Amino acid sequence: MPEVKLFSNRAEAYEAHDDVPLSPAHGESIGEIISLRFSRRDVLRGSLGTAAATALFSSVLFNASRPARSLENSTDFREIEAGVDEAHHLAEGYRADILLRWGDPLFPDAPGFDPKNQSAEVQLKQFGYNNDYVAFFPIDEDKDRALLCVNHEYTNEEVMFPGIGRQDLACFPDMTKELVEIEMAAHGVSIVEIVREKGSWSPVRDSRYNRRISPLVTEMTMDGPAAGHDRLKTSADPSGKRILGTLNNCGGGVTPWGTYLTAEENFHGYFWSDAKLACSERLEGLGGVQARSYDRYGVPGLWQAWGKFHDRFNVDKEPNEPNRFGWIVEIDPFDPTSVPIKHTALGRYCHEGAEPVVNKDGRIVIYCGDDGRFEYVYRFVSSRRYDPKNRASNRSLLSEGTLEAAQFRDDGSVIWLPLVFGNGPLIPENGFSSQADVVIDTRLAADLIGATRMDRPEDIQPNPANGRVYVMLTNNADRRPEQLDRANPRAQNVFGHIIELVPPNGDHTAKTYNWEILVRCGDPAFGEVGALWNPATTDNGWFACPDNAAVDGEGRLWVATDQGEPWPTGRADGLYLLETKGKNRRTSRLFFRGPVGGEICGPCFTPDGDTLFLAVQHPGTDATDRFKGFERASTFEDPATRWPDFDADLPPRPSVIAITKTGGGKIT
Ligand code: FEO
Ligand code: CA
Ligand code: CA
Repeated sequence: MPEVKLFSNRAEAYEAHDDVPLSPAHGESIGEIISLRFSRRDVLRGSLGTAAATALFSSVLFNASRPARSLENSTDFREIEAGVDEAHHLAEGYRADILLRWGDPLFPDAPGFDPKNQSAEVQLKQFGYNNDYVAFFPIDEDKDRALLCVNHEYTNEEVMFPGIGRQDLACFPDMTKELVEIEMAAHGVSIVEIVREKGSWSPVRDSRYNRRISPLVTEMTMDGPAAGHDRLKTSADPSGKRILGTLNNCGGGVTPWGTYLTAEENFHGYFWSDAKLACSERLEGLGGVQARSYDRYGVPGLWQAWGKFHDRFNVDKEPNEPNRFGWIVEIDPFDPTSVPIKHTALGRYCHEGAEPVVNKDGRIVIYCGDDGRFEYVYRFVSSRRYDPKNRASNRSLLSEGTLEAAQFRDDGSVIWLPLVFGNGPLIPENGFSSQADVVIDTRLAADLIGATRMDRPEDIQPNPANGRVYVMLTNNADRRPEQLDRANPRAQNVFGHIIELVPPNGDHTAKTYNWEILVRCGDPAFGEVGALWNPATTDNGWFACPDNAAVDGEGRLWVATDQGEPWPTGRADGLYLLETKGKNRRTSRLFFRGPVGGEICGPCFTPDGDTLFLAVQHPGTDATDRFKGFERASTFEDPATRWPDFDADLPPRPSVIAITKTGGGKIT
């Protein structure tokens, strides 16, 4: 019998996916790397990173009893204590209102939330699951009316549905077509009007703007070099341009012309093959003529049972469908009938986010991370310039431009390498027949061009206050000592780090930047961790596994964490204020922490700085077997927390919260 890894939940399975490094070291095949490093069984069990990291850092775990160092800092809030329990915690003097929960009705005819009587039809009228990126669009420059766009990244069936537990253990025995379609309806994006009255935000249920976008029903189109290419054609879509839906929507961005960008991340997990021997085993060599591409992207991943009931997610039947996901999608939130556009010019990979910058010369620059171990950092530069007076023309700015991959050099520079058909190795002899091939197989192109293999690039946050750009590198337990470079300086990097990019003269189109490491995460009290913080950072203020980030009006960085497995700090994920300038540079402190098992996503400030939206994703799921007193995996009936309702009849619910200062004023 093949070994099947017993993940305690889907978040762990997603995380463990990265234990199979799909990005080959230059000159090594994937097979060679795997056999060099450890047995295939270890890879399948996904246990390597966890076991090794736990052994290495066991002295660090749960050790939070040292006296706190004193903190002298320019900011106002008093940081909270690090720790973990079933609730969230917030700095004194602030309030967190639960704004939108999974299942909240978004339309006048939407039924209330009843998880025991859920259906796809009902879910399509309700707020989706696992909220991630959050974006705020003021309506008519009214400070108190806005559209909130929220990504719904994935689903956790074991805490969503009664009585079935985890399904990825044994090829989804209890997943029915009905349950699969509820999952599909719970993915995608929600667009919701919100209003502020007496300082509190609430959703407007009968707003004409409210919209649910899902992989089940929402038609999309495609532009850029791959649109209409043969590799995008399927039996349902001979044009190669009409796609049903978006999925695994992780980070995102807001364009200066008022549209929403949503990033399709772990798309490979949604594809199925009847040829697979067992769940969770990645069978290499599927995909026929596209086998090299399938292997590089981990297709089919079999993390979901959608392909059992929907042929388009079964690669045996629709081998091109995976090529239609892994893109950046643009949505006009102000037009509920608009057709979302997948922009192929920005490349196809596990996109984490897409925060645009208007460069001094008017071109649009978007930095993107590919969230996988040893994957790359990318930049897109539009061909045309932004025109503040011409929204219609701006709508095609992301259709054409140059995609580049980053090469970090040990001399402190970073070079942007164009991924352009015909450039260097990107030629037919190496499997690229056109720019369409380059963007569809972005990872293969970046391998050849010599990009630097990074420690899981997540959110990349430009900071308008100082013209610099911050790259969250969440972790990489698989990096070996012989694979170190200055930009990825720690072996078994379970804590992650943040790199600061410095474009010369603030030019985001320059070929060469400088860079330096802002922080190396982890507990600074333990020398073997190799952390780097300002010494003013207290025992509560250090963090691990930076994932999402936002900047406030003063250019300070707010960093949200996602430790996943192996939960290396033993503390809940949180939101930290990280100073970037002056004597406080590298000082971090804890503003908010989430309930056990949940990661923190989507920090998003209102333009007035008075409200901070946070998305608490998958509460009660991650690593609850290590939560003292609970020590088991969560199920619908028996979850580690019932946040945010704490109602004995309700499971935990991913929710967006709105944080405000008591009595009003800026969050500082
Ligand atoms: Fe969806 Fe990389 O976090
Ligand atoms: Ca993320
Ligand atoms: Ca994450």
